[in-house]
Amino acid sequence: MTTTTPIPDVPPVATVQVSLSQRLKAETAGQHDRMESLMARAKVFAGRDHYARFTAAQYLFQQDVESFFDDPSLRDAVPDLQVRGRLQAARDDLADLGATVPDEPTATASVQMPAALGWLYVSEGSTLGAAFLLKAAQEQLGLSAGFGARNLAAYPEGRARVWKRFVAALDAQPAGTHDAVVAGAHAAYDRFGALLKASFKLDGSPSFTRG
Ligand code: HEM
Repeated sequence: MTTTTPIPDVPPVATVQVSLSQRLKAETAGQHDRMESLMARAKVFAGRDHYARFTAAQYLFQQDVESFFDDPSLRDAVPDLQVRGRLQAARDDLADLGATVPDEPTATASVQMPAALGWLYVSEGSTLGAAFLLKAAQEQLGLSAGFGARNLAAYPEGRARVWKRFVAALDAQPAGTHDAVVAGAHAAYDRFGALLKASFKLDGSPSFTRG
């Protein structure tokens, strides 16, 4: 006679939901390190001429990002889009510095939502580190949030508050979009890195690992 042993119920394995903002931060950490390393190699604050080259790169990057601002699906995702973006600030800074405003086409003509949100993440996140860059521009170059370093200034409502709202917008995006947003963020970091390298004629690149 055979006996059967009942199989105990196996509890389901707990799945941890990782939010989009957490994924972006974790999966692009290597890219952020690379930017800091490129900025150090460029010696951005070695003089106003160096800083103007950084500002030209910032201008072109902001041009790429603001090219999405009329997209209704991005406006749906980020309802306070009108308070964001630093294209005009970078243009005014270049004028303050007596530097030429670059005249180049955007690199994002074929980029759409949800990847566009990843580009915006890189731009918005960079406003956080910009607090340190503003301090350097003030102390080392005599610039300010009203002259030459507007593109590094906090938004009028404050950096943390505007960032917190952006994180909430990210984390309201449906899970099916997350991979495309992360891919957009990688592309945006790649673009900013390429702009810095071109602006400062940096050859080669430090060892680059994503993630
Ligand atoms: C020397 C240059 C830089 C420094 C010192 C720096 C520093 C920082 C710091 C301290 C934070 C975290 C702030 C916080 O959590 O309160 C941050 C966040 C961030 N930075 Fe930078 N940064 C630099 C350059 C850049 C550049 C060039 C970009 C992009 C083009 C960038 C993109 C970001 C992003 C996207 C975040 C948000 C990360 C997250 O929490 O998801 N940073 N940075």
